[in-house]
Amino acid sequence: MNGPHGANLALPRLSRRAESLGTENAFVVLAEVNALQRAGKDIVSFCIGQPDFPTPGHVQDAAIEAIRSGKHGYTPSAGIDELRAAIAQDMGQRRGLDIASGDVVVGAGAKPFIAYTIASVTDYGVGDEVIYPVPGFPIYESQILANGAVPVPIYLRETRHFAFDPAELEAKITAKTRLIILNTPQNPTGGILAPGDLDAIADVLRRHPQVWVFADEIYSRLVYEGTFASIATRPGMLERTVISDGASKTWAMTGWRIGYAANRALAPVFTRWITNTESCASQISQWAALAAISGPQDAAAAMHATFRERRDRIVRLLNDVPGITCAAPGGAFYAWPNVTEACRRTGCADSEEFRRRLLHEAGVAVLADTHFGRRVPGDGQHIRFSYAASTAAIEDGVARLADFVRRGQRA
Ligand SMILES: Cc1ncc(COP(=O)(O)O)c(C=O)c1O
Repeated sequence: MNGPHGANLALPRLSRRAESLGTENAFVVLAEVNALQRAGKDIVSFCIGQPDFPTPGHVQDAAIEAIRSGKHGYTPSAGIDELRAAIAQDMGQRRGLDIASGDVVVGAGAKPFIAYTIASVTDYGVGDEVIYPVPGFPIYESQILANGAVPVPIYLRETRHFAFDPAELEAKITAKTRLIILNTPQNPTGGILAPGDLDAIADVLRRHPQVWVFADEIYSRLVYEGTFASIATRPGMLERTVISDGASKTWAMTGWRIGYAANRALAPVFTRWITNTESCASQISQWAALAAISGPQDAAAAMHATFRERRDRIVRLLNDVPGITCAAPGGAFYAWPNVTEACRRTGCADSEEFRRRLLHEAGVAVLADTHFGRRVPGDGQHIRFSYAASTAAIEDGVARLADFVRRGQRA
């Protein structure tokens, strides 16, 4: 590298931690989409996992009131008492659990708790193992690696409705296993862990008391089939489960950055992490989140109903496209169609080539399964649609996809 005076400067090296830190490819694809849009291309985007609704009006009002009434300073690192109490009450009531406000810590989104949990229960470079779902939210693997732990994927297969096999879980647990990450409803498949799955997982985990559980329940309010259930409700699980949830998805508050985690033993540790990193979540957003949780729920209910309608529509439309099959996702706002046959028909080597050609030739932006971890052996090619998009966009996007597959047809 050239320095200011033209001299060759070799920079000091980066840490292994920095070099092993991954990313969320949705943001990479988003940059590609933005560049195409800036160049005047007409793109229908299904990339981003955030509600396309405004934050409910009464939540906005609460934030403005917080600003106007001088709530400008730091808060305790664990969050304001009013919000912790409201979260404990709501989180406990929805899951049928007894959660105290002292068990709850508020952070700048649910995402930081993934890192805090891994950093709190594994040690760097000593072979501590973390079991995590694949396909899955890419931050799990990235943070496992950055924290010097060993990633142990557990595969979610289409034949099991994207819930993993508890027998496979048992086979992956070793004396070095420190943590298992569960995510229900799941990103990217929309899969749900059914009550029977949770029973079976808890049965396995009771035989392995050295394992913590991170229950990523950020989509817990976005369930369309049956009711949501948490692993923490199973006997012996509450004490060693970190329940993670947040305001982003339920109340369309992704940019406000409020998430929360509950676990009695780890709450003081999470609080220390927050003191060491962001100090506290934004005070204004905390008051807004309090209004979201304890105020009227009609806006959240309306968003839920709209997501359900869109889910039904996109699944029906996708299943009408030749070479594509799409199982109905039970929750979240993602569809995860199998495009193995569509790849064959269009001469695409895999889902990533399919995704790229779909973007450049048809103007439809989606993510490929490879953005969510290594390939699941024998499970074919998948792409992810976020249906946090208007009905018109869903109809237009899937029509373009159908046209792309038909045009690309190679007998
Ligand atoms: C599975 C999963 N966990 C956690 C998050 C993080 O949510 P936030 O940090 O906005 O609360 C997301 C967001 O996309 C997610 O999909």
